[in-house]
Amino acid sequence: MEPFILVLLTIIFSACLLLLFSGRRPANLPPGPPPLPLIGNILQVGPNPHQSFAQFAKTYGPIIYLKFGTIDTVVVSSPATAKQVLQKHDHVLSSRPHPAMSDSYAHNQISLIWQPTNSRWRTLRRICKDHMFTLHRLDSGRDLRREKLHKLRDFLDHQCLAGGGAAVNVADATFTTVLNMLSSTLFSIDFADYRSEVSEDFKGLVHGLMEVVGQPNVADYFPVLKAVDPQGLKRKTTTYVRKLFGVFEDIIEKRVKSRSDDHGGAGAGAGDLLESLLEVSRKSDSDKEFTREDILHLLMDLFVAGIDTTSTIIEWTMAELIRNPDVMTTARHELDTVIGPNKEVEESDISKLPYLQAIIKESFRLHPPGPLLVPHQAAADVDVDGYVIPTKAQVLVNIWAMGRDPGIWVDPDHFNPERFLGSKIDVKGQDFELLPFGSGRRICPGLPLAHRVAHMMVTLMIRGYDWKLPEGIEPQELNMDEKFEFSLQRATPLEAIPVKI
Ligand code: HEM
Repeated sequence: MEPFILVLLTIIFSACLLLLFSGRRPANLPPGPPPLPLIGNILQVGPNPHQSFAQFAKTYGPIIYLKFGTIDTVVVSSPATAKQVLQKHDHVLSSRPHPAMSDSYAHNQISLIWQPTNSRWRTLRRICKDHMFTLHRLDSGRDLRREKLHKLRDFLDHQCLAGGGAAVNVADATFTTVLNMLSSTLFSIDFADYRSEVSEDFKGLVHGLMEVVGQPNVADYFPVLKAVDPQGLKRKTTTYVRKLFGVFEDIIEKRVKSRSDDHGGAGAGAGDLLESLLEVSRKSDSDKEFTREDILHLLMDLFVAGIDTTSTIIEWTMAELIRNPDVMTTARHELDTVIGPNKEVEESDISKLPYLQAIIKESFRLHPPGPLLVPHQAAADVDVDGYVIPTKAQVLVNIWAMGRDPGIWVDPDHFNPERFLGSKIDVKGQDFELLPFGSGRRICPGLPLAHRVAHMMVTLMIRGYDWKLPEGIEPQELNMDEKFEFSLQRATPLEAIPVKI
């Protein structure tokens, strides 16, 4: 046996012995599948954990307890239990466990995503809200986003003209557009181009980081292994983070220089988020409330949390629309009737388009990009439905299972936007059967931006184009399998041919 494996096994074994003979275990834990000694339930969970947990819930009910190595885990999967976790006990259950990979560059101590809900976290949330997500800020970014949509349209037009129509990798096209929308909002820069090799590097960096942080890590189940990093995932994450920080630092340096050349003015980026962050940092220098380092970490959080999630939901929506051409036709009809055939759709029009909104809700119901939200952690023992969620347990909310629960939705596996017409159910965190952005204090701060971007991009892609699948694939045969990564991906990226209409 390799010496490394021997050391590893010894460490795991000692860790588990330590666990077996120490620690307090509350008596009334929620029910769940019996754990194996030492490793707990790790082997009972498949590559799509949200699906495994949904199966367990059928046997054990809407609150279950699992053990992953040394980590207590509670999964809830009904609107009532989700409401208790995210609303009634929000103050105790809003902390975060720290995955081993979030240690890179001490990110877990600085980042907005991995902070407990302390005053530092509140400051970061406030900065995001005030400088990025207020109505005024969002409205002032409208022209930039429209410009990115036009670039996407040019790209699709180009594909239509290419000999008989060329297939578009929809995942890649949406990723590029969302990346550019975000990078221009943050820095007034386009990072990616649909056809250019030059920017592939940056896209590759963000993609690579997403892939690494989405992988299950044995060091998260046995924290004693964090220092060993047995799968090398922390090392890989650190490499990606170093490169990303390098790009951000470069941009910040150039901006600071251009500000000083402009004698304290905004230099090259008036109105973007970086400008606001530098200003906040300048004003808060005295108490070290918000430093240059904080800016780097916040930018990374926004990229990591915002790009994959938003582009994924758009890709899933397009796949559903291609499988359900009648829905696509009804949506086009709504656009023509409400907006007019030759008029460009504006973000302010979204509220007038109930069928389009119903499509996006239906897509979130079936394909939530964060099927288990981001893990929460209990800061103290909490009683939910008569069971104890023990201190330090990670708490997962299986919104994917709720979206497909026949006790909540009629014919849940069927993509049927009509179910939302005339319904008051929305995605904004008040309706616990549909929580793609979470709810309570940890609710996604990017919701208002993601909402606009998703509606506008789907509109652009269905309005001017019909979509064919490559030779030999019938719409009904389109593979809809899932791949659990940082966000819930399609197992097979969507490739389709746009046909100008
Ligand atoms: C369709 C797109 C998106 C979806 C479905 C989504 C979903 C989520 C979910 C489920 C959470 C965790 C909630 C919880 O812990 O209970 C979250 C957190 C977060 N999201 Fe989003 N998100 C999206 C887009 C964005 C965008 C565009 C941004 C910013 C540019 C963003 C920034 C964040 C941040 C910073 C957090 C961490 C908040 C905290 O821990 O306090 N998200 N998001």
